[in-house]
Amino acid sequence: MTRPDKERPDSLGFATQAVHAGNAVDAGSGAIRTPIVMANSYALPDDPEELSWSGFDVPLYTRNTGANQRALQEKLALLEQGEDAVVLATGVAALHGVFFTFLRTGDHAVVSDVTYEASYRLFAEILPRRYGVQATFVDTSDPDAVRAAMRPNTRLVHTEVIANPTTRVCDVAALAEIAHAGDALLSVDSTFTPPPLYRPLADGADLVVHSLTKVINGHGDAMGGVVVGAREHVDAIRAEAMVDVGGVVSPFNAWLISRGAITLPLRLRQHLSSAQRVAEFLAGHPAIAYVTYPGLPDHPQHALARRLFDGRGHGWMMAFALEGDAALQNRFVADLRVITSAVSLGHDESLIVHVGTTGARAAHWPEEFRRYGHLRFSVGLEDPDDLIADLGAALDTVRA
Ligand SMILES: Cc1ncc(COP(=O)(O)O)c(C=O)c1O
Repeated sequence: MTRPDKERPDSLGFATQAVHAGNAVDAGSGAIRTPIVMANSYALPDDPEELSWSGFDVPLYTRNTGANQRALQEKLALLEQGEDAVVLATGVAALHGVFFTFLRTGDHAVVSDVTYEASYRLFAEILPRRYGVQATFVDTSDPDAVRAAMRPNTRLVHTEVIANPTTRVCDVAALAEIAHAGDALLSVDSTFTPPPLYRPLADGADLVVHSLTKVINGHGDAMGGVVVGAREHVDAIRAEAMVDVGGVVSPFNAWLISRGAITLPLRLRQHLSSAQRVAEFLAGHPAIAYVTYPGLPDHPQHALARRLFDGRGHGWMMAFALEGDAALQNRFVADLRVITSAVSLGHDESLIVHVGTTGARAAHWPEEFRRYGHLRFSVGLEDPDDLIADLGAALDTVRA
């Protein structure tokens, strides 16, 4: 058995990597934690003529690189088992970094018809109207539909592993094969499936995006995004989205996210087990019209999710609705006493948001989402018994 050693991250288990990767003894103070470096600029060498003002290899200016971005990138590249990572201001900045770096006027993209709102709007409105990039929206859980949508000028296939908000699951390996056969890249938003739950790179994805705002930070107090992949791709995003477009993460937020990510393995375990219990409770309750969660046997991709996540769990995100109209869904949410009504997800506290049935995106959602609307529910770290009791009591109140 090889001896684990902090200096050789490959020798470490996932939880040990989450604790130690990207952290170093601070040479100046001797502190054993990488400090927060709130500085815009770094000392120049005696002869700075050699430096590229657009470079990102040596600390120069925080929009090019900085101590806390580097520390976080090192941790995330290791946890996602990618060659390199670039951290940016938000998840959307990371998505923008992928789409605007790898797509040109005249290119075509095949995009999941169920995604986070901003991804949808970028491909439905901004990229085609302003930049001449066309997109075909397809059900990416159906590899044949993706294959049929490929064109000679398709340069990118983009999907979420578990889609926001419907929780539809896609087969990343099948999509990678199709994308690569067409000479396109596969980018995967894995915000709902962080490591060690799943690693899309191992199944052939080229670029993995996370909103770090969510479970990787996990405490609901900092925004960030990351793209992980081959250095050649990550450097292209750095050069354009970071240095030239400027979507840089603040050093303080990078530090907070590094600290939050230390407990990712522990937190994730709790999120996953609580979500399974909560989903089973909701699915068995007579007031509930539907629950969609990949860990339930009636989920359309339950078998695929079991295969991809190999028994580790099925995420902590679900969508459900009560049998009734929008006013009833609102009354239910208003009666909750532990679960908070707010957007975002993957925080320590459970978050619920009532989403209606209007908007262009909704046309792609399953029939029950369009009939009842949905409550997007991010199961947090509270005692699962408290969550179930809170849901149960609010269901009783609105039924009475
Ligand atoms: C799947 C997914 N990707 C990206 C984002 C955007 O992340 P951010 O809010 O950090 O820009 C979100 C936000 O909810 C999301 O759910």
